[in-house]
Amino acid sequence: MKAKALIALLLLAALLVPLVSCGGSAVVPGWNETTDKMTDFVKLRRGINLSGAEGSDGMPGYLLKDETYFGIAGKGFDHVRLPVDFRNYYKNSEHHTDGELDEGFMKKLDTAIALAVQNDLSVILDFHGWYDLDSSDEAQKALFQNIWKLIARRYRDASERLLFELLNEPHDNEGGNLNSLMLNRLQNETIALIRETNPTRLIVASPAEWNGPWKLAELDLPEDDENIIVAVHSYAPMTFTHQGATWANAEWTEQVRLNQAMLREFDSQMDDVKKYIEKTGRTVILDEFGVYQKVADPGDVTEYLAHAVAKCEELGIGWTYWEYNSGFGAFKPSLFGGGWRDCVMDGLIGK
Ligand code: BGC
Repeated sequence: MKAKALIALLLLAALLVPLVSCGGSAVVPGWNETTDKMTDFVKLRRGINLSGAEGSDGMPGYLLKDETYFGIAGKGFDHVRLPVDFRNYYKNSEHHTDGELDEGFMKKLDTAIALAVQNDLSVILDFHGWYDLDSSDEAQKALFQNIWKLIARRYRDASERLLFELLNEPHDNEGGNLNSLMLNRLQNETIALIRETNPTRLIVASPAEWNGPWKLAELDLPEDDENIIVAVHSYAPMTFTHQGATWANAEWTEQVRLNQAMLREFDSQMDDVKKYIEKTGRTVILDEFGVYQKVADPGDVTEYLAHAVAKCEELGIGWTYWEYNSGFGAFKPSLFGGGWRDCVMDGLIGK
């Protein structure tokens, strides 16, 4: 029994080793000729969203398996994004400022991060799912910022390959109350809090309207902090990428074939990204895009994704496919036999 406990302890220690910082300061990641002069240590070229913990069901088992990360890295991905709704794992608070993150969940998160880093994958830890966040509500703001303080404190010595993404898809419609002005204030105040314990960690900020590229022009970030990158999302056009997704629109039941006008719609959102990069020099990442896999034509899926990836490469930005193994899955759930889905992977990585 004792020997077993010792082995378990040694295993955990081995897992946590990569979480320890290599020292030195973080630098803005990049991979192409405009940005790779800064570093080739934190790579954010091709990634995949590991969904599951953004709900209230706890940490899904696949996130705790080495084979998941080994398989992802083996396919040529260099990062994963872990969406977590931390409100589900916040305990013992009466005033939103004195709670703690659930230790059982956080230990699992430590393991997931360690497994990813061990497999040479960077990790974007994303606060996901708070769709009715209203930063003018003091209690909500206190909760949001206290959670970030706790995360930042926990991972202050973690590998530079761990990035903090402040908030997924902020918006001021459909229940949320975060326009660009409010978002700028909330993000910048939260960045300052995180900087108290993580002076150089890479932080990922978002433009308003669901990480809308068209809102980049209103995004205001501290100019003297070069360790902030910006995440945009594009599912343009929704009628194509969300075909069959009746949870998004009850009428989207039928197959929708791809056409050139649809690809131009995607490109026009990327034009906003290009303008933003030219103006600010910030590193941008498209950390959500994808096609729902229910009724879509597989050939169309490959063409759309290959187009999106080529566009990102042209702009010199990284991308993160939504998602690994659920509705948009690049990996088929075991119910469908498991294994990588060819039409997605052919588009993302090539044949
Ligand atoms: C949401 C998912 C959704 C995806 C595509 C994500 O940000 O969390 O529930 O499937 O976007 O719409």
